Amino acid sequence: MTAVASKTWQTLAGHAKRARAEHLRDLFAADPQRFRRFSLEHGGLLLDFSKQRLTAEALATLQGLWWEADLPGWIARLRAGEAINHTEGRAVLHHALRHQGTRPILHNGLDVMPQVRAVLEQMRRFCNALHSGEWRGATGEQILDVVNIGIGGSDLGPKMATQALAAHRIPHIRVHYVSNLDGAHLATTLSGLSPRATLFVIASKTFTTQETMQNAASARRWLVEALGEAAVRRHFVAVSTNLPEVTMFGIDPDNAFAFWDWVGGRFSVWSAIGLPLALSIGMENFERFLVGAAAMDAHFFEAAPDRNLPFTLALLDVWNADFLGAESRASLPYSQSLELLPRYLQQLEMESNGKRAARSGRDAGCPTSPILWGEAGTNGQHAFYQLIHQGGRLIPCDFMVAAEADFPLPGHHEKLLANCFAQGEALMRGKTADEARAEMEAAHVPEAVIARLLPYKVFPGNQPSTTLLLPRLDPYHLGQLIALFEHKVFTLGCIWDLNSYDQWGVEYGKQLANRLLPIIEGRTATNGLDSSTAGLIAACLKQ
Ligand code: F6P
Repeated sequence: MTAVASKTWQTLAGHAKRARAEHLRDLFAADPQRFRRFSLEHGGLLLDFSKQRLTAEALATLQGLWWEADLPGWIARLRAGEAINHTEGRAVLHHALRHQGTRPILHNGLDVMPQVRAVLEQMRRFCNALHSGEWRGATGEQILDVVNIGIGGSDLGPKMATQALAAHRIPHIRVHYVSNLDGAHLATTLSGLSPRATLFVIASKTFTTQETMQNAASARRWLVEALGEAAVRRHFVAVSTNLPEVTMFGIDPDNAFAFWDWVGGRFSVWSAIGLPLALSIGMENFERFLVGAAAMDAHFFEAAPDRNLPFTLALLDVWNADFLGAESRASLPYSQSLELLPRYLQQLEMESNGKRAARSGRDAGCPTSPILWGEAGTNGQHAFYQLIHQGGRLIPCDFMVAAEADFPLPGHHEKLLANCFAQGEALMRGKTADEARAEMEAAHVPEAVIARLLPYKVFPGNQPSTTLLLPRLDPYHLGQLIALFEHKVFTLGCIWDLNSYDQWGVEYGKQLANRLLPIIEGRTATNGLDSSTAGLIAACLKQ
């Protein structure tokens, strides 16, 4: 029986009915210890979920999903290298990429750790050679710009982490990311670069992805036009599971960094897909990033359900999406360095759990992944927060902030923290008509004006939020944070009975684009297309 069909699920529906009638203000007023009761800490990471619309009883019932969804069984299958990605027949072992102990991690009976360590060693040698200037371009110039060409998981993770760890970057190396098929992305990135001092990292698990292959071919042409064919081997390296295709592209097999089919694209930042990140921050920092993630792995695998951060975070999504009816969740890092985190999490969460078909093939029977969206604070405050405050929709918010600034300019960080905490407080409390009136009376606003403005000055509040407080944004804590979300995704897959590791919806889009390409290129007729698609293509061809 799945968790959704369990008695616990029915009990939760009863709790939710009561929760809808309760206001967070009252929950706080009734329990001065609410923060202590509804917060968890691990390895310096504080998860405050006291502003969620949860009672202790509802939380205790939610925690029962640990057993209903057989989390212990699924964790054991994950760790044993079973093919839990059953539609593609693949194991899910990305945690092996950051494993720190001596225990073997088995895949098909073989320990994967020797090959993991060999690639890490290859990355270390390459990073050191590039940073020291031992690895030079074909003309003998030092490499100063690295351009990663990849998309989806082969782009979002390293790009997000490179920006997140900007305070730790090696000063003389600039790392750029090109993903979009739109030529504007590559063209604008290359416009300021010198071919003699540029290295391309072609990152693709399959080495067949249309966007990446097109951008790689155009980058190759740019380089060859400037430096000749022989320069390719000094200016191109690859990261892939498909080494024969890498060689066909003309990249020296010695300059190819391998990973394996048991690493899903959106979970691959820990593999050699993280090479541009390692080139940006240095291999030692990259390894601290792995160590932070490994600490979160150990916590998730071992902590009891009521102390378990990823499990708790997952329960909050279940509660809000399945029981309180939230359709979306806002991801709001109060950190310019974490600006790309919402985009990274969009792939991690929505590509993993944006699914209807359960493992059994039947309908999941409940709403699954909420729509994830967001923006760095305080920017978002001046854009869309108005709707969260007064738009009338239930939008759970995830605030994330570091206690210490990564770029400590005097006067900035205290204000950033004040804004972050103020938003959580405002969303929780709201402002009643009496409070709004009292404020205006205290400011001597005339009664006629008060009566006119009052409806606009009332805030319903009761908008749930979670705050994740990091001590500081460094490689270790970023590793922890990302692994926290990965395990949350895994947990949700277990509760919703989904395979979180395939992405057939994405494949369908690729299939149709391949069908339309010869039509747009004018090689085939528009026969059999719907009138809208045919009309759009005809209009383009006419121009
Ligand atoms: O978006 C679909 C997807 O398959 C992702 O899962 C993956 O991260 C991305 O395409 C890129 O794939 P590849 O690394 O094979 O180029």
